[in-house]
Amino acid sequence: MTASDFILNNYNNSKLNSGTFTWKTPSNIALVKYWGKREPQLPENASISFTLDACFTVTTLEYKLKNHKSKLASDSNNEILKQVQHDDTGYNFDIYFEGEKKDEFKPKIETFFNRIVEYVPFLKELDFVIDSRNSFPHSSGIASSASGMSALALCIMSIEKELNPTITEEYFNKKASFLARLGSGSACRSIEGELIVWGKHVEIPDSSDLFGIQFPYKVHENFKNYHDTILLVDEGEKQVSSTVGHKLMYNHPFSQQRFEQANNHLSELTEVLKTGDLSSFIRIVESEALSLHAMMMTSNPYFILMKPNTLKIIHKIWKFREETGSHICFTLDAGANVHVLFPEIEKIAINNFIINELIQYCQENHYICDRIGIGAKLISNN
Ligand code: DP6
Repeated sequence: MTASDFILNNYNNSKLNSGTFTWKTPSNIALVKYWGKREPQLPENASISFTLDACFTVTTLEYKLKNHKSKLASDSNNEILKQVQHDDTGYNFDIYFEGEKKDEFKPKIETFFNRIVEYVPFLKELDFVIDSRNSFPHSSGIASSASGMSALALCIMSIEKELNPTITEEYFNKKASFLARLGSGSACRSIEGELIVWGKHVEIPDSSDLFGIQFPYKVHENFKNYHDTILLVDEGEKQVSSTVGHKLMYNHPFSQQRFEQANNHLSELTEVLKTGDLSSFIRIVESEALSLHAMMMTSNPYFILMKPNTLKIIHKIWKFREETGSHICFTLDAGANVHVLFPEIEKIAINNFIINELIQYCQENHYICDRIGIGAKLISNN
């Protein structure tokens, strides 16, 4: 598929009145990381993620047809009409987050709308109210752009489905992922579950730089119900935004080797997910996390996003694994928090270990118990 397959042509705007859609969409955690992109929001390497379950965003999008034109069209010299037509080059929306109006979020949404309007031209004909909330604290350092942008993309796709009810579920999800990607790259992996690949990869049929797809092979039992306990080491604002971080890969001395490494890791991980080889899973996933941070430590300017407690946790995990033969491992996002990954079968022993030995390193002992999830859900449709 190409981007032009996602352009909505010839829709009947008499069907465009008013309505409300609410979608609940999960966050995701990358096993092979996306770090480095080119215009328009295309990844420099393929990535794969577990869709999460407990970390999610719920977004309600209320829309109604702009009615300025019909009221004012009778007088084409009307000064107000000229003003309105001028305003119509923009988007008319309000955004609320956890019940509070957030004008500071508007520029990000405007950039998103500008990137997607070519594919969903009805955006310019509507007034919107966006109302969003997260299941996790905003300040937790957990990226909310993946679940936030995917929720908004799904609400917009629900409007498209009103205009064009014959679209298939497959097209709906692909286009939702395509749109979400234009909001935030990793958001394209937050539409479906349980394992999502984004980025063209020779060994993964139908993989694409344009949208995420479900991992196309049968996944071994070992990965069913896999756990991700997120240890909130540092709940502050991110030190470096991912947008800035991705840009640092442009003139990075190791970028080409990194993109190659990620693609090789995905080849290896594809086999591991089929065979259930947990030792190789651990080796690849931890190497990915540390490589991501190595990229930040060796960029210009350079950053260390891990905190002393991040390292303490990593060393504790390694020690526990060595002493017990457990299959616990960790991954990291672009921040200090640690995602502790482990199989369902070991959950009792590992939960005890986390509670007794790891949560002391979390800010105010905060942590979130999450696990692999099945993807986004339409909550209401009025
Ligand atoms: C470290 O998707 O947040 O989490 O496309 O600029 O919005 P933008 O970046 P974003 O980057 C995510 C980076 C990561 C790794 C990953 O999720 O693959």
